[in-house]
Amino acid sequence: MLEQIQQKLGETMSVGRNLIVLEEVGSTNDYAKELACQGAADGTVVLAEYQSAGRGRRGRTFQSSGGKGIYMTVLLRPDLPAERLMPVTALAGVAVCDAVERVCGVRPGLKWPNDPVVCGKKAGGILTEMTVDGETGMPCLILGIGINVRQEESDFSPDVAQMAGSLEQLLRVPVQKPALIAALIGALDEMYRALKTGDVSAYLAAYRRDCVNLGKTVQIIRGQKRETAQALAVDDRFRLVVRYENGEEATVSSGEVSVRGLYGYVE
Ligand code: BTN
Repeated sequence: MLEQIQQKLGETMSVGRNLIVLEEVGSTNDYAKELACQGAADGTVVLAEYQSAGRGRRGRTFQSSGGKGIYMTVLLRPDLPAERLMPVTALAGVAVCDAVERVCGVRPGLKWPNDPVVCGKKAGGILTEMTVDGETGMPCLILGIGINVRQEESDFSPDVAQMAGSLEQLLRVPVQKPALIAALIGALDEMYRALKTGDVSAYLAAYRRDCVNLGKTVQIIRGQKRETAQALAVDDRFRLVVRYENGEEATVSSGEVSVRGLYGYVE
């Protein structure tokens, strides 16, 4: 797998210059965190064929069937103030869309904040975490990306199968995993360059185009409370601007709320 990816991967600035491919791991995010503590290089990529304890956002598990998906974590040491790091997950969402479009010919949408969706189903997810380098005390970003490539319905538990699918299942085209991994590494390298320069305008424009929730009714879930709202816009910090049924407008950020379409995963 390593050689196949490297053959397809062009020159990158930092992402993927150190590329580690594992057969099996608990979670590539956890593995990358350990590497970060040991001083691994900026841009190190950890890939696994199978995760026995893949993790998703909000404490959920991420079902990671053997060999059927892409389970990847990028370790980034951007040396930027925290507020400049905030958009990284949204930027990575756009990078996933860029890579899938390049290899599969179809651009996924993004269910806010950053779930790639194809034909209304979740085709992957992104989990960004932070850790601190034990030696330098500098923050490191642990950017974990999962893409469902060739799972069938039976590879997911029944509840997950209702809302998730794989690229091959949904698009009905064969997908070469090494080509998609190489495209993803290339797209993440470009996005890292943008994050570092601070000019993320092209990503914001793409994110607004890709966001499937805009103009739709969503449920804003804050703790135990659910409220119906209209998704109006994405502001320049990638937050969702919504109008509640009482006419009140609010801006919500991803750590604060969860968003659902009213009828199933995406309306
Ligand atoms: C989500 O949809 O809730 C986020 C899923 C993120 C899954 C990826 S797979 C690679 C990396 N390792 C993990 O344990 N999680 C992320």
